[in-house]
Parts: sequence; C-alpha cells; structure tokens
Amino acid sequence: MAKRKHNGSLFDERIIVNDLSSSAGEAYQRLQVNVDLASIDSKLKVIGITSSTKSEGKSTTIVNLANIYARKNKKVCVIDLDLRRPSLHYFFKKPNDVGLVDYVLGEIDKEHVVKHSEEGIDFINTGKHTPFPAQVLESKNLMDLIEYLKGIYDFVLLDCPPILVSADTTIISKFTDGFIFVVKTNSTVKDALGDSLEALRNCGANIIGAVMTDVPSGRGTDYYGYGYYKY
Ligand SMILES: Nc1ncnc2c1ncn2[C@@H]1O[C@H](COP(=O)(O)OP(=O)(O)O)[C@@H](O)[C@H]1O
Ligand SMILES: [Mg+2]
Repeated sequence: MAKRKHNGSLFDERIIVNDLSSSAGEAYQRLQVNVDLASIDSKLKVIGITSSTKSEGKSTTIVNLANIYARKNKKVCVIDLDLRRPSLHYFFKKPNDVGLVDYVLGEIDKEHVVKHSEEGIDFINTGKHTPFPAQVLESKNLMDLIEYLKGIYDFVLLDCPPILVSADTTIISKFTDGFIFVVKTNSTVKDALGDSLEALRNCGANIIGAVMTDVPSGRGTDYYGYGYYKY
C-alpha cells in the first residue's frame, strides 16, 4: 500500500512496482527502453546509478529497472555497492546476511554470492559490514566477480553511493560502462548537481542519462512522476 509522505508524494519506502500499466510501471519501462537504446551501439553491460547525495531515489530506480528487465526475461543481476548505507535487501525483504563483503574476504565463492528474489530478480546484498568500503571496491576479487557476472548476465546493475559523499563511486566508475544520474525534484541543490557532474566527468564516467524522481505528474495525487532525459 502506498502511503502519503510528508512531501506529498505517494510513494512507499522501498517499493517494487508490479503493475506495469500504472504510471510508475510505465515510467520504469520507459527508462528500460532508454537504457537499451543507449547500450545498442556502445554495448553497455555494467550500468551504475548515482546521484549527489542520499535519499534521491537511486536504489528505488535501479531495483525497478532490474524488475522490468526480469519481467521481460532479460538476465540481470543488481549489486548493492552502497556499502556505507546498504538497502537492496530491504526491497527484497531479505536479511543482509552473507554477501559481497564476505565474498571479497574469501569466505564464500563467486558461484554462491548471487541470491534470487521472489520477484525473479538476481541480486547481491552487501553482507558483512566493513569499515573499509574503498578497499572492497578496489579489490581484485570484486573485479573478478564483475567479469564473471558479465559472462552470465545481459546487464549488471550497480546501486552506487552518492558521488559527493565519498570517493567510492569514483572507484566504481573504473569498471562501469555507463551511469544513470538521479536528480530529485525540488531537492537536489544546483551547486551539488554541478559538482556531481564535474566529479563524474573528472573520473571519466560515461553518463548515459538522467532520471528525475518525485516529479508531480499532473495526473492527480495518486501518481508520482518520473522523467528520463538524455544527457
Ligand atoms: N520516483 C520517485 N518518486 C517519489 N519518491 C521516490 C521515487 N523514487 C524513490 N522515492 C523515495 O525516495 C526515498 C529515497 O529512495 P532511495 O531509493 O532509498 O534513495 P537513495 O538510494 O538515493 O538513497 C524513499 O522514500 C523512496 O520511496
Ligand atoms: Mg540507496
């Protein structure tokens, strides 16, 4: 059940939209089509999502993009790389037990780190808490895992931390083919937006598009809006 939030948007926390004919379902399908179009020529396989700061809709967007792909029988795996603020497991109503960090530490092998949600989405949760996120993101084991997943999946989707909060997303950009950048309506500060885009450009990131979250749709209060823009 959607609940009304203080800012007036009707959007439950950590929701996976199942009704693809709803306004939200259609919006996520448009995003999927745009990502597909962006990947036709340049063969993008590893796609990250980021934004300036927290709570702008990154995780919600990437999980719902994964859901659309899964519903269309595309093979996708979504990985929680927001090691400082993991949330993927909440969407799938699973505990954040053994996961990525345990794999990087050599405690489980790569064949066993991927989980399967009830929605039919393959995902990797962060697992054990680490005080050293950068070391995990820079590790050879993570590179090996990404290469392994690229051989299995059509898309590997990365739920990344905000670009301005740490250097984590800069590290992630080294093995990411393209980024979706999220801007939250009436929330993302203009200076932060400029700084974020500069930070992404400086690390050579390929920004494939921008998504606006929390956009009033003009269709009444039962819908929230969602825009996708070519960058
Ligand atoms: N398109 C959207 N429209 C309105 N609210 C949204 C949208 N996407 C996400 N949200 C809400 O914004 C909040 C933060 O979402 P989340 O995906 O956890 O952000 P982030 O990963 O950037 O920290 C949640 O309450 C979520 O329900
Ligand atoms: Mg998040």
